Amino acid sequence: MSISDKITAFLDMDASPARRAFEECLSEDGDFEVLGDGEEFADLLVRELDPSRGEEELEAVAEIVARRGEREVFLTAGEYDAEVLMRLMRQGVREFFPQPVSQEEVRMALWRYKARREGRHGQRGSKQGRIINVFGAKGGVGTTTVAVNLAAACLGHKAGASVALMDMNLPFGEAQLFLDIAPKYHWGEVLGNISRLDATYLLSVMSRHASGLSLLAPPSRLDDLQMATPENISSLLALMRQVFDTVVIDLGMYLDEITLKVMDISDAIVLVCVQNLPCLANVRRFLDNIRQAQAGLEEKLRIVVNRHLGESELTVEDMENALGLPVYWRIPNDYKTTLAAINQGKTLLEAAPKAPVTRAIADLAKNLAPAPEPEQKRRLFGLKLLTGRG
Ligand SMILES: Nc1ncnc2c1ncn2[C@@H]1O[C@H](COP(=O)(O)OP(=O)(O)O)[C@@H](O)[C@H]1O
Ligand SMILES: [Mg+2]
Repeated sequence: MSISDKITAFLDMDASPARRAFEECLSEDGDFEVLGDGEEFADLLVRELDPSRGEEELEAVAEIVARRGEREVFLTAGEYDAEVLMRLMRQGVREFFPQPVSQEEVRMALWRYKARREGRHGQRGSKQGRIINVFGAKGGVGTTTVAVNLAAACLGHKAGASVALMDMNLPFGEAQLFLDIAPKYHWGEVLGNISRLDATYLLSVMSRHASGLSLLAPPSRLDDLQMATPENISSLLALMRQVFDTVVIDLGMYLDEITLKVMDISDAIVLVCVQNLPCLANVRRFLDNIRQAQAGLEEKLRIVVNRHLGESELTVEDMENALGLPVYWRIPNDYKTTLAAINQGKTLLEAAPKAPVTRAIADLAKNLAPAPEPEQKRRLFGLKLLTGRG
């Protein structure tokens, strides 16, 4: 398995013999990578229980387990009592390791973890996040608005979801302005080091927004684009979909071999347009191009009418008739609300959670990236009780 296929683990514990035991077992296993940062992205969290915090600690663990959904939590503790353990186990903690930690027990637990994971994913290896790209039929139709808020909505409708927003507008990405962040790095830097790319490195070049979104900004200098080849972008996206549940890409409005490659890899191509003739003409040209370029792209196409007006010289039905294709979604016209969110550096969910425009994008997200089937009820006695004090 290549480095980017690794299962990511995060150790929420101080330097100690117990921590060393986990580090050694995880690195010797070969399928795991220990993240230095970013617990929320790790497939597996190992936490050291702090019994001195009493009830507060137990509530914190319960909250973490619930938030992480199907991404498992292991616990270790020097002291514990059996009743507390039973309670944690009912809450969904998967494995418990009394200290001193036995490396043999850790190895077996990692082995069991992988078996469960294979069962969940129906295959060996990491998750396969969904990639949704957003393309504009014309400048100014709301491509960035849809991309940013679609990503934010994906974050909102599934507990513990990790969502990335990748901006591919060159050379001026605006997603960072919409989110009021000043990224230090951009994806041009990782392309130059693609063979060294792993989850830790990827996360280190991304910027976090208060909403929880992770942004991967574009290079703003043409010099940084030398390594931007369809192959390198593919490698980057392959890793991104292993780290994130959903990756939303603001692809801008240029068709070239890179954007076509991104469309090829994506699970859905959202084409944003508005109700006017130039847009209609561009959607037609877009269709001609993707039909010629490659089989399979049209099936993934989802035409979205932004700034939708019921009363318009060009109705959605007219557009559907002219295109011979259905319009997948309509997002209502609300310039005031969308602009206010942009000016505040907030997502629509933060700035105007109840507005119809916000709800329309949230529903679009639910349709494009449905939350997975609820996991089977956790095994009540899934925790392996090991010998130890207590
Ligand atoms: N649903 C909408 N209703 C009204 N105005 C919108 C809507 N979506 C976006 N806009 C406005 O359109 C302008 C351009 O949006 P932007 O997302 O930057 O477009 P693009 O990325 O296609 O250039 C912004 O001022 C934004 O407020
Ligand atoms: Mg834009």
